[in-house]
Amino acid sequence: MKILVADDEQNLRRVLVALLRREGHEIVQAATGLEAVDRLGDVDVVITDLRMPGADGMEVLRAAAKNFPQVPVIMVTAYGSVGQAVEAIKAGAFDYIEKPFEQEAIRLIVDKAIGQAAANRMAPSPNLYQPGDGEAKGKFGLVGTSEQMHAIFSVIDKVADTPSTVLITGESGTGKELVAKALHEQSSRKSGPFIKINCAAIPKTLMESELFGYEKGAFTGATSSKPGRFELADGGTLFLDEIGEIPVEMQVKLLRAIQESEFERVGGIRTIKVDVRLITATNRDLEAEIARGNFRDDLFYRLNVVPILIPPLRKRTGDIPLLVQHIIKKFNERLKKNILSIADDALAALEAHGWPGNIRELENVLERTILFAQGDRIERNDLQLGSTAGEPPPLPVPAAPVAVRAADEDDEDGDSPNEISGSLKDIVRAETSRVERELIVKALDETGNNVTQAARLLKISRKSLQMKMKEFGLRDRDV
Ligand SMILES: Nc1ncnc2c1ncn2[C@@H]1O[C@H](COP(=O)(O)OP(=O)(O)OP(=O)(O)O)[C@@H](O)[C@H]1O
Ligand SMILES: [Mg+2]
Repeated sequence: MKILVADDEQNLRRVLVALLRREGHEIVQAATGLEAVDRLGDVDVVITDLRMPGADGMEVLRAAAKNFPQVPVIMVTAYGSVGQAVEAIKAGAFDYIEKPFEQEAIRLIVDKAIGQAAANRMAPSPNLYQPGDGEAKGKFGLVGTSEQMHAIFSVIDKVADTPSTVLITGESGTGKELVAKALHEQSSRKSGPFIKINCAAIPKTLMESELFGYEKGAFTGATSSKPGRFELADGGTLFLDEIGEIPVEMQVKLLRAIQESEFERVGGIRTIKVDVRLITATNRDLEAEIARGNFRDDLFYRLNVVPILIPPLRKRTGDIPLLVQHIIKKFNERLKKNILSIADDALAALEAHGWPGNIRELENVLERTILFAQGDRIERNDLQLGSTAGEPPPLPVPAAPVAVRAADEDDEDGDSPNEISGSLKDIVRAETSRVERELIVKALDETGNNVTQAARLLKISRKSLQMKMKEFGLRDRDV
């Protein structure tokens, strides 16, 4: 951090400079107010004496407030001049300190100001997005100011409160679920339920009873009747995630339920009518699936009344700084950390990365980074990026049937691997395993082998962690 010390009294300046240098700060000195005003642009914090001949401390403060509002100004006032100190605070001074001051007092106040300066630097600088805050960083809980995100916001605005079905398409981790929730929240159904079902996580044989429910005795084990997700979503929104994964036989039944807004429970004869708004999402190219005979075109047209295509993160890298800021804030709270900023080269590395796992991958990288970060600023070396820099493979491969994923209905744990050519793929896989193992060991160490807590740190389910531990031969650590 660079600190500007402005004081016309050379002795006082020397004392301050020596003290701050000892704390490891870089110092810029000014002997007059005018000189100080000149140097405002290249420092992070200002300490200025109030009384100086010519331009005084108030003028330095005004110049800073006007041109460099992110730079905190500490005013040094004469003993007993509380009135002036208050004036300075009103004019925007960060704090004041009376002469003569204790070294400890000045150290504390400077530390506080440095924290503030760092936080200010984290705050979006005006050129990152259009002015007019509130909505400036995004909308509906979706961060992003790129043209593509604006287009999505405007579709959400237009269609949220209509009954039309929406098909959200996007690679893994692009925010499909978030868009689905935004549509629900912006509709008059928001007081009704938002029911989600992940079609990829439901075994084929259970799909129909999950969706439509069953009557007692419909099959072995059906000891009582149970409503399906369509019924549960009555009056609200039903979100069918990974719709590309539903078996063709089910597609017919789903089509009928949509067309006629009615269905029967499995093993039931009563026709049930519901008022449900349907939103579906997929990371597959459904039109290609139609061509392959895996998806019915009549169902597709029913689902695709309003298409929303979320572009991959690498196609909207302009959103990365804001997303990074948003995610750091989120994990600071969640992990009780206090990361204040990110180094320019670290941010540049994030912008240059390919992000095959999109925002979810960005979240994972930052969470790991924050979890193990030493200082309050993320440095380039802190980042644990894989090797996907540059243009990554073009198409997401359908969710790989990794055991962990199937076990984890909410699939919090991330990115499906993408297809890369032979050897590179093997390298990436091996490298991923290595990093995974390392992080698991670290998390277990940090939590004293508490699997539940470690799983929470790693943001995967306990079950997933146990499977991973088995896979990596860490089972003996299980307690
Ligand atoms: N625009 C955004 N602003 C802020 N956070 C976002 C944004 N998009 C996605 N996220 C976050 O990224 C993560 C992944 O988002 P989400 O689960 O909605 O993606 P998805 O497309 O459904 O992923 P998957 O295909 O893996 O199910 C979530 O934690 C979500 O909060
Ligand atoms: Mg999802």
